[in-house]
Amino acid sequence: MASIRLRVTILGTALLCYGLQGIGQSKPPQLGKSPVADVIKAMTLEEKVQLLVGAGFNLSGATGTGTGVGQTQDRVPGAAGTTHAIPRLGIPSLVTSDGPAGVRIDSVRKNSPGKTYYATAWPVATLLASTWDTALVKKVGAAFGHEAKEYGIDIILAPALNIHRNPLGGRNFEYYSEDPLVAGRITAAMVNGIEANGVGTSIKHFAANNQETNRNTVNTIVSERALREIYLKGFEIAVKQSQPWTVMSSYNLINGTYTSESKDLLTTILRNEWGFKGFVMTDWFGGKDAVAQMQAGNNLLMPGVPAQSTQIIEAVKSGKLSEKVLDANVAGILNIILRSSSFKGYKYSDKPDLKKDAQIARTAATEGMVLLKNENSSLPVSKNLHNIALFGINGYELIAGGTGSGDVNKAYKVSLAQGLANAGYAIDGELQQKFTAHLADYASKHPKKNFFQEFMNPTPPAPEYALAKETILQKASATDLAVVAIGRNAGEGRDRKIEDDYELSNTEKELLRNVCDAYHAQHKKVIVVLNIGGVISVLPWRDQPDAILLAWQPGLEGGNAITDILTGKVNPSGKLATTFPAAYSDVPSAKSFPGKEFPEKATNGMLGMKSTPAEVTYEEGIYVGYRYYNTFHVKPAYEFGYGLSYTSFKYHDLKLSSTTFNGKITATVSITNTGKVAGKEAAQLYLSAPAKKLDKPAEELKGFAKTRLLKPGESQTLTFTLTPSELASFNTQASAWVADAGKYTVKVGASSADIKQTATFTLAKDLTVEKDHRVMVPQVQINELKK
Ligand code: BGC
Repeated sequence: MASIRLRVTILGTALLCYGLQGIGQSKPPQLGKSPVADVIKAMTLEEKVQLLVGAGFNLSGATGTGTGVGQTQDRVPGAAGTTHAIPRLGIPSLVTSDGPAGVRIDSVRKNSPGKTYYATAWPVATLLASTWDTALVKKVGAAFGHEAKEYGIDIILAPALNIHRNPLGGRNFEYYSEDPLVAGRITAAMVNGIEANGVGTSIKHFAANNQETNRNTVNTIVSERALREIYLKGFEIAVKQSQPWTVMSSYNLINGTYTSESKDLLTTILRNEWGFKGFVMTDWFGGKDAVAQMQAGNNLLMPGVPAQSTQIIEAVKSGKLSEKVLDANVAGILNIILRSSSFKGYKYSDKPDLKKDAQIARTAATEGMVLLKNENSSLPVSKNLHNIALFGINGYELIAGGTGSGDVNKAYKVSLAQGLANAGYAIDGELQQKFTAHLADYASKHPKKNFFQEFMNPTPPAPEYALAKETILQKASATDLAVVAIGRNAGEGRDRKIEDDYELSNTEKELLRNVCDAYHAQHKKVIVVLNIGGVISVLPWRDQPDAILLAWQPGLEGGNAITDILTGKVNPSGKLATTFPAAYSDVPSAKSFPGKEFPEKATNGMLGMKSTPAEVTYEEGIYVGYRYYNTFHVKPAYEFGYGLSYTSFKYHDLKLSSTTFNGKITATVSITNTGKVAGKEAAQLYLSAPAKKLDKPAEELKGFAKTRLLKPGESQTLTFTLTPSELASFNTQASAWVADAGKYTVKVGASSADIKQTATFTLAKDLTVEKDHRVMVPQVQINELKK
């Protein structure tokens, strides 16, 4: 009896000791030291939810409204959001910051007076895509990522790669192209560049977020084929070629489901079909149902609202949501945290080399500017013409980039006037005085607002100054050359409009007409510089000036970069990655953009805004951009792929590795500089596929490459590879990518309408390249455009 009692006591003491150790004495598993699975096992439900729901939002100008807004997260002031730290388990918080055109953080801080935290405003995405140069974009990414790292950022909320479905899309400047191959490859280059620093990216906005009108409520109705071939393809390429740390789901619904709540999109397609290994975060306040988001595989809810945590906890407790789902989502986040600077305790300097980066920005800007017109070699500006009349307010105030979360707090921006002066050109002083006085007057009447106020109620851009005709006539006698700058700005939250935005305003039209008349009467030239983020109407006025340079929104060094092109220091080599149509009504989505609203169903949304249900139907199907213009023979003003140079190139010796397709074909083409100055050429490979079972666009871009700087007479051979997936289209009935047997034509050209060399090969038998899941099926009949 006694011995039994003794044994029980010993056992009891042992259990007690073991229990005490387990609960209080030994350290719980630490991230990085113990396997992730053990860390998750040690987490309470509340801790898991803490990690899955961001730490709130601190938007300058907006304060607490029960939405999470106004909660501070001060690690890096001005950064878009952070995750919660869980120190008990060695889990640090992550800092995320916008955005596509540079690190967006506050440039000054209350607690460090006198110090500044400026970042480089890089050229916007439309410009970077127009370089057609993945190596250059990677270099920009490397410098951009380094700035992020030195400012303590773990994940940059970029790049953004939604398709330019319609020229009025308010965020098109943040996006690359109308073509998914360009968008996907440029994105992959940017991601690889940024992430080489050990800083993460969040490729966004996944997916089919092609407008700002009703962006939080719009249901995008799109066929499975258009979705796969146009709107998902770029993301697929980017995931496969760069495996970004994170993906940001978009605000909109696709075929009836919020993207952030779509398991089909975030798990079946993104992870199972494409092999994505990172985690998914919502766009800020995106989606409605936190539980559905968890189930979909949307790991992180940003910026994080307390109500979301409550919903998730209650769903687990009531058995509606399995804790296993949370564990998988937590694992996705922890695996990325392990790679972050915050986890590694990186001591950031807050002092990136902004001087060096400004030079990279300047070079990149010159590489993506597109020379649209150059009659009688009006450009480069002759060295003897030193007296320049610069017209237009945007000659004196550069638009470096767009607005909203794609904006950057930069230390300065170089105007075109400044750029020309820096290069030793004399600018007419009287004009400078008039245009800058007009800008100053406008600014004094429209005081600067904080980010939130500006977002809610944007200040309209200053209208063009109505310069008297007499002044223009005087200047035409007194100066050698006229440069007319025309600018446009747009950004998140709103789409652009046709009047005074897509079209030139009456004042702009009059200024341009008067300048052209006056200067041409004196046999002097007029150059137009377009400082714009997206497509505008050009056909009605393009015959008037002698040359047109599309400078896009070229980042903080813009004025210097434009001058580099105007003076011939750099030979332009940019080409359009998006079509400039002849008229807005020609755009295939013109009739359906931006869709229908249902105001009778409106509710009160976030931050006092109305939330109006809406839908948009992508009736043009796969016929977006040049796929439409080429197939339906609609001539644009400037086609996809178009851009001039100060030299000329000959394409020759297109050769295919085989005339029958057997798993792979390589095409080589030689390009020779046949002109008088050194230059680079962006060559494009289009493929025309047999249209047997499926409707096919006349041609589709399947490869592109840019030559190095070729001296006059110099040649370079470019190589392109075609694999089965480049031959295939998405067959909806079969839910598979298939290539039809028959004759394929390879067309290598300087643009989508300027094909220089062709060659053909045959595919002997129909090929099923990949079988996919039948998901994201539209709930309604779409009256889709067919050939
Ligand atoms: C934008 C995102 C951005 C986020 C954080 C959202 O309004 O749509 O692109 O990353 O805000 O600033």
